Amino acid sequence: MNPDEEAREWDAATYDRVSHIQAEWAREVIDRLELRGDETVLDAGCGSGRVTKLLLEHLPEGRVIGVDASASMIEKAREALPDDRTELIVSDLLDLELTEPVDAVFSNATLHWILDHRRLFQRLYAALRPGGQLEAQCGGIGNLDEFLNSLENVNGDERFAPYVRGIASTWNFASPGDTEIRLQAAGFADEHCRLEDRLEKPREPREFLRTVCLGPHLERLPDELHEQYLDAVLEYIPRPLTLDYVRLNISARRPSGASA
Ligand SMILES: C[S@@+](CC[C@H](N)C(=O)[O-])C[C@H]1O[C@@H](n2cnc3c(N)ncnc32)[C@H](O)[C@@H]1O
Repeated sequence: MNPDEEAREWDAATYDRVSHIQAEWAREVIDRLELRGDETVLDAGCGSGRVTKLLLEHLPEGRVIGVDASASMIEKAREALPDDRTELIVSDLLDLELTEPVDAVFSNATLHWILDHRRLFQRLYAALRPGGQLEAQCGGIGNLDEFLNSLENVNGDERFAPYVRGIASTWNFASPGDTEIRLQAAGFADEHCRLEDRLEKPREPREFLRTVCLGPHLERLPDELHEQYLDAVLEYIPRPLTLDYVRLNISARRPSGASA
């Protein structure tokens, strides 16, 4: 993995508390999975386990393998999930190696954090059994455009500019067309991607911004500027804080009979 792309640690306890928006999105993605209830499903970027728990409810006889690059997220997920039906692994998805292929891959609010989608889809394809399903949702092209434009004004402030300039490349908000091409290149079939606008109002705006949207910014700022930066963002952006999310829904299948 490129050292510039190293995955960051998350405040897992706060994320777990404030991520009701991600949990709502996840329910719809889980509903797209065609499950009997006895399968093994990979939760790619399982985070604190809040969403993994929802997924497990659809697998009364099955199990989940949760993979996340953040050790603190995996630790939190371990507290929330039953040992007998969950395997939790700290790993970058770009380095994913499973001992046995899974029946389906699920992922919510994660794939845009990974810049190399070509390699990502190769790893997810390799994790699936022939005929297995991929259902995912992540940020897509245009995600948070208005929010990020407003943020530019705060980022230009002389207190913050030396640290946060050029941060736009932190995410990969891909288009449906590019994603379908990358899925095909990885070997997937029946690929279908579509964008969906979601305006969301976080219940705890400051903590949501701190933990979810502005993690990469705060990571670059010295600790003593964190609260000033959050104050500046909250002052600049109209209230109630409304985030202009654009979600990229990804559906695809590994062809039956396809070899590794
Ligand atoms: C917004 S959280 C989503 C967590 C969970 N899926 C949910 O819906 O609540 C994004 C997660 O992606 C994980 N992540 C980011 N980059 C990753 C990578 N390269 N490999 C594995 N996990 C990664 C983060 O550690 C974080 O837990």
